Amino acid sequence: MSKVTVQEVSKDLFLLRVEDTRTRYFEALWEIPEGITYNAYVLKTPEGTILFDGWKHTFEDEFIAALTSVTSPAEIKHIVIHHMEPDHTGTLPRTLSMIGEDVNIWGHPFVKQLLVSLYGLTPPNLNLVKNGNSLTFGGRELVFYHAPWLHWPETIVTHLPAENILLTGDIFGGYSIPAGIFDDELTEDDVQTYMDYSRKYTTTVIGHYRDKMLKNLSALEDKYRLRPAMILPAHGLLWRGDPQRIVRTFQQWGEGTPKKGKITVVYSSMYRYVEKSIQVAVDELKKQGYDPIVYPIVDDQRAAIADILGDVLNSEAVILGTETYEADVFPYTEFILSEIRKKACAPRPLLVLGIFGWAAAAGRKIRQLLEGGAFDPIQIMEIKGLLTPEGETRIRDGVRTLLDTVRAR
Ligand SMILES: Cc1cc2nc3c(=O)[nH]c(=O)nc-3n(C[C@H](O)[C@H](O)[C@H](O)COP(=O)(O)O)c2cc1C
Ligand SMILES: [Fe+2]
Ligand SMILES: [Fe+2]
Repeated sequence: MSKVTVQEVSKDLFLLRVEDTRTRYFEALWEIPEGITYNAYVLKTPEGTILFDGWKHTFEDEFIAALTSVTSPAEIKHIVIHHMEPDHTGTLPRTLSMIGEDVNIWGHPFVKQLLVSLYGLTPPNLNLVKNGNSLTFGGRELVFYHAPWLHWPETIVTHLPAENILLTGDIFGGYSIPAGIFDDELTEDDVQTYMDYSRKYTTTVIGHYRDKMLKNLSALEDKYRLRPAMILPAHGLLWRGDPQRIVRTFQQWGEGTPKKGKITVVYSSMYRYVEKSIQVAVDELKKQGYDPIVYPIVDDQRAAIADILGDVLNSEAVILGTETYEADVFPYTEFILSEIRKKACAPRPLLVLGIFGWAAAAGRKIRQLLEGGAFDPIQIMEIKGLLTPEGETRIRDGVRTLLDTVRAR
C-alpha cells in the first residue's frame, strides 16, 4: 500500500499527497530509489470545491479515496490544471467520470489539445486562461500566471492573493519522500538532503529549459511581484518556513552557479584500465585538498545518471574518464555526456582522461559532442594501454592545471 497523506495546510486548503515508492525510473529514465510524491490540492469554499491537479494513474484508487475523504464529488465545481504531464493528470479521466465532464476546468490554452492527445477528452466547460486571468469563487480569489516550459509549454501557476499562497506544479518540486510536509518541520540536515534531491529533480526533469526557468522566475518576482508566504509544489516538500530559500536556490540552479570546492568525477572502465588513471587523478585532487564525488561505471556497479546530472550541475569542475570503444566514446558515457550537454551545462573546466588500446578516438569524439559551451575549457588527455610513470605525471599535471583554472575564477 502506498502511503497517502491528507492534511489541511491552510484554512480550507488540503494537501493530497501520495508516496510513490514503486517507480524505479521516473519518466522511464531517472533512477529514483528515494521515491517521489505527487501533491494535489483541494480548496473548500461555501459554494463548492476547487481541485488542483491529480496524481499518476497508478494511484487512481487511492486518489479517489483521498479526494472523497475531504469533499463529496457533487461539491467539486472547478478543476485547475497546472501541468498536463500524466504524473499529475493520470487521475483526471476517472475524476471526471465520477463528477461529470461538465465541471469547470481551468488551464493554459494549450491544455485543450493536450486533453485530446493524452486522454481523448473534450470537456464542455474548459476555461482557457490568459496570463493574469483570475477566478473568484466562494469568496476566494485565484490568479493564474503562465510559466511556459516549467515543465511543459502549458504550465501555469496559481496565486491566492489573500493568503499569498502560490501553487506551482513541477516548479520548486523535488524527488524523494520528505520526512515531513513542510520545510519548517524538517531538521536543517534533512532540508539539505532534500535540496540534493530537488537539484537532481530539477536537472533531470526541467534542466533542458534552464533559460526559461530563469525567465519565469524573474517574471514571478519582478513582473508579478510575487513573494509568496507559502509555496505548494506538485512534488516533494511544501515551503512555509523559508519559501524564498527554494526560490533563490532554483535561481542558482538555473544559472548553474557552482558550489565552492565541489568536483565530480565520472568514469567508465571495462577492465579497470581507465580506473587506474582515475585513481591517480582522485589521489591528486585529495592531495590538493579536494574531496571529489566519484561515479564509477564498471562491471560490478553502475552509477545513476540522474545522480551524475544533479551533481555535475553545480560542480566547479568535472573529470571524466573513458576508454575508446569501437573507435568511439564508451556508449554509456556518450549518453551521459549528451544529457549533461542538454541539462547540466555551464562554462566550467573539464579534464578528460581517454584510455585506448591501439588508436585513440574517445577524446576527439568528446570534443565534438560537447561543442557549444557545455564545458570551458576542455582539456583532453589520451593515454595508450597500461599506465606508466610518465602517464601518471601527465595526469597529475592535468589535475593541477584544472585546479588552477578553478581557483582563478
Ligand atoms: C569492446 C572493446 C572495444 C574496444 N575498441 C577499441 C577501439 O576501437 N580502439 C582502441 O584504440 N581501443 C579499443 N579498445 C581497447 C580499450 O580502449 C583499452 O583496452 C582500454 O584500456 C580499456 O580500458 P578499460 O579497461 O578501463 O575499459 C576496445 C576494448 C574493448 C573491450
Ligand atoms: Fe512535468
Ligand atoms: Fe511532475
